[in-house]
Amino acid sequence: MASQWSPDSWTNFEAKHLPAYEDADALARAEAELAACPSLVFAGESDALRGELARVEAGQAFLLQGGDCAESFAEFAPDTIRDTFRVILQMAVVLTYAGSLPVVKVGRMAGQFAKPRSSDTETQGDVTLPSYFGDNVNGIEFTPESRRNDPQRMVRAYYQASSTLNLLRAYAGGGYANLRQVHDWTLDFMGRSQWSEKFSAMADRITEALDFMAACGIDPSELPQLQGTNFYTSHEALLLPYEQAMTRRDSNSGQWYDSSAHMLWIGDRTRFEGSAHVEFMRGIRNPIGVKCGPSLDPDVLLRLLDTLNPNRESGRMVLITRFGHDKVEAHLPQLIRAVRREGHPVVWSSDPMHGNVVKSESGYKTRPFDRIKAELADVFAVHRAEGSYPGGVHLEMTGQNVTECVGGAVAITDDELSSRYHTHCDPRLNAAQALELAFSIAEMLQPQVDRAAAAA
Ligand code: PEP
Ligand code: CO
Repeated sequence: MASQWSPDSWTNFEAKHLPAYEDADALARAEAELAACPSLVFAGESDALRGELARVEAGQAFLLQGGDCAESFAEFAPDTIRDTFRVILQMAVVLTYAGSLPVVKVGRMAGQFAKPRSSDTETQGDVTLPSYFGDNVNGIEFTPESRRNDPQRMVRAYYQASSTLNLLRAYAGGGYANLRQVHDWTLDFMGRSQWSEKFSAMADRITEALDFMAACGIDPSELPQLQGTNFYTSHEALLLPYEQAMTRRDSNSGQWYDSSAHMLWIGDRTRFEGSAHVEFMRGIRNPIGVKCGPSLDPDVLLRLLDTLNPNRESGRMVLITRFGHDKVEAHLPQLIRAVRREGHPVVWSSDPMHGNVVKSESGYKTRPFDRIKAELADVFAVHRAEGSYPGGVHLEMTGQNVTECVGGAVAITDDELSSRYHTHCDPRLNAAQALELAFSIAEMLQPQVDRAAAAA
């Protein structure tokens, strides 16, 4: 029998990757300030996402989750938000059109600040300082002052998340995401790349279909499904003092929701049994992701699912597998079989980023595009062989023209990494690479689509 849950019951459990704050009063003040702030999202919206994820679970939709590895105060700009949003829209159009499936769009945006780090300290030359833990904890600059944990950074992150979300809501519902604008979503710097031409041809066909519908007397501009889109937010629920302060009881249902995002996930390093992060997450009603890396034992996963989703609700759990391009077959089948044996409802999503980080010859942390694609291809093949549904992808990507992951049709080389390497943490796909990957995923989904059509 699980003990009583409360928003702070996690403090009785083992917490890893949480910052220590020197000044307890300053922390309490920041928490109180956040607790008095308006919710960023509402309970009904998280419930709606749960409903959409239940459709993914049933193989009737596809989940696209993506955005920065770490949002930062420095990169906060309306164009950055717009560009990531529109690449996600473009990818969703590719997947909807070529994959014949509705796409559930979830940003790693408006709150994705905190980062778990493999080491608590960083050494440069003969100076050792605390590591950078994300802009809501400390600063990236390598100075003692910047690396000091400051609870007021949580408050600043809240306001940045709030204004990011405001813009995302405006884009999603205010006309920008209207399918009539499909041609306008192509980013200027993509130029006449192979992928933007392919996208443009697809956009022509969509526009023709809309014109045809209009000629038949159906005005697409009046259909809510085409006028805008649902766009949800998510981040890793790592910084528990922040998540606790943002947790509110819904006045209608009496249930607790973490109002900082529609969906939260538990990282691979904090999903262990007895973890404070698992304890916190079991009590909130939001949909929950769990990162599943190579060290996850199937029995531990089953116990986690029993803890996090004891009532076996559809649309609550998203298992985000991230093994590495050469480890999928060794780990994924046993997880799929265990989950199926126990009858747990889950969405299977694939994060092909976090198991594929390498150090390039020039010394940059990078991810080879081929390995990202290879992990996805293996994940799709394993699900096909096991009879389960590869329901989604989880990507670190940006709408900016960065050079952080090597390869892709844009052929970023090791030498070019230094030219626009801006990430505050892990290397992200740039807009062209993200779009290219969407076309590959649409192809990988095709046998699934053919099978569903044959069964209909
Ligand atoms: C992340 O998604 O940024 C992350 C740290 O992933 P993981 O927990 O899978 O390592
Ligand atoms: Co990352």
